[in-house]
Amino acid sequence: MAIRLGDEAPDFTAETTEGTISFHEWLGDSWGILFSHPKDFTPVCTTELGAFAARKSDFDQRNTKLIAVSVDDVESHQRWKSDIGETQGAELNFPIIGDESHKVADLYDMIHPNANDTMTVRSVFIVDPAKKVKLTLTYPAATGRNVDEIVRVLDSLQLSAKFPVATPVNWKDGDDVIIANSVNDDDAKEKFPKGFRKVKDYLRFTPQPNK
Ligand code: BEZ
Repeated sequence: MAIRLGDEAPDFTAETTEGTISFHEWLGDSWGILFSHPKDFTPVCTTELGAFAARKSDFDQRNTKLIAVSVDDVESHQRWKSDIGETQGAELNFPIIGDESHKVADLYDMIHPNANDTMTVRSVFIVDPAKKVKLTLTYPAATGRNVDEIVRVLDSLQLSAKFPVATPVNWKDGDDVIIANSVNDDDAKEKFPKGFRKVKDYLRFTPQPNK
């Protein structure tokens, strides 16, 4: 069955380029991003893994661990790693799971047979420190993901985990946010001392509270 928002992220133990990892234990108190790519030694995947590696410090700053997976084995990932470093300007700095048995791919429903019956699609699962799935994304093989968007959504998820706020369309870190409708105006005055702008009863903006 598909994994839904709020579900516990399925746990697993797998071989990776950084040794054996038990997913929940490895996550510890961090947020996590588990993402699949279709195949090693393919062009779009090479650019994606390089781009995630280049942005590792952005994920570190957000207490977030990255882990990739495909149905290739660890030995293949190890050989491919050097191509990523050579061509993308960043050495791979997070583990890739070898999933030739499809254990992880099946647990996370990453093979979509009507798209391709052997390769994983480009899935993204963002998991919070309580191991709950907070975001899922699915891209097809021919479309590389956007790392800026994944950092942006991580900022939104972490903000709404900490404050009773939501983020509007095209929001980015530093922009005003929306006060949750569960907070009445009196409570909003206390919770958001920088004040708020009321456009409608249900649409109130306030400066980003952690800035
Ligand atoms: C790619 O990464 O370029 C790719 C992988 C599998 C199918 C199509 C493209």
